[in-house]
Amino acid sequence: MDIRIEKATIADVPKIHKLVNDFADRGEMLHRSLAELYENVRDFMVIRDGEELAGCASVHVVWADLAEIKAVAVSEEHQDQGLGQTLMQACIEEARRLGIATVFVLTHKPGYYEKLGFQLADVMHLPRKVWGECLRCPKFPHCNELALVMHLQPDGSAVWTQQGGVTVQELDLIPAPHGPRPRLGL
Ligand SMILES: CC(C)(COP(=O)(O)OP(=O)(O)OC[C@H]1O[C@@H](n2cnc3c(N)ncnc32)[C@H](O)[C@@H]1OP(=O)(O)O)[C@@H](O)C(=O)NCCC(=O)NCCS
Repeated sequence: MDIRIEKATIADVPKIHKLVNDFADRGEMLHRSLAELYENVRDFMVIRDGEELAGCASVHVVWADLAEIKAVAVSEEHQDQGLGQTLMQACIEEARRLGIATVFVLTHKPGYYEKLGFQLADVMHLPRKVWGECLRCPKFPHCNELALVMHLQPDGSAVWTQQGGVTVQELDLIPAPHGPRPRLGL
């Protein structure tokens, strides 16, 4: 296996489109149009296995202090190898590099993000999100996704008060179930 994590390029967009929308067809995540993916290609990280796209995730700045991590997907044959966690860590590191104070996700799978140190939050505590992008969503205001947040300190560690949570640094210490962690090529 030749696993690498990198910023996405234009050539990745059709593969990201297929990966995300195949899961979306099964109700596991939101559909993304090609237009949206091309417009936001600079937000995306991808994990490659050789020439194959193994996973993707994007970090989208909403405001000076807020970014959303979205479109997180790992192909079925690459799941449970720590790649989702690696993608999340890369997105968090990118948000920290930008100087973002808080990252959030909207998801039907809160358990996955709670394991990574995110904390359930009231989406109404993310007003810029609700009154910005959500207003344009066909599901608004009957969205059934849950919001989870992670507050980042300047050094990138998570501000996490609930027992059992992990810091961003500690994410590095969670062993991948199978094989070595892919190298960060950012
Ligand atoms: C969710 C997803 C990105 C995880 O990717 P992955 O590479 O398999 O994740 P990791 O290998 O980093 O982590 C796997 C761990 O998360 C756990 N996990 C996976 N889905 C979970 C969920 N819904 N709730 C709680 N834990 C979950 C696995 O059981 C595994 O646990 P373990 O480490 O104790 O064995 C992947 O399953 C996926 O792409 N799913 C379809 C698209 C999707 O749901 N995207 C997120 C929606 S916003």
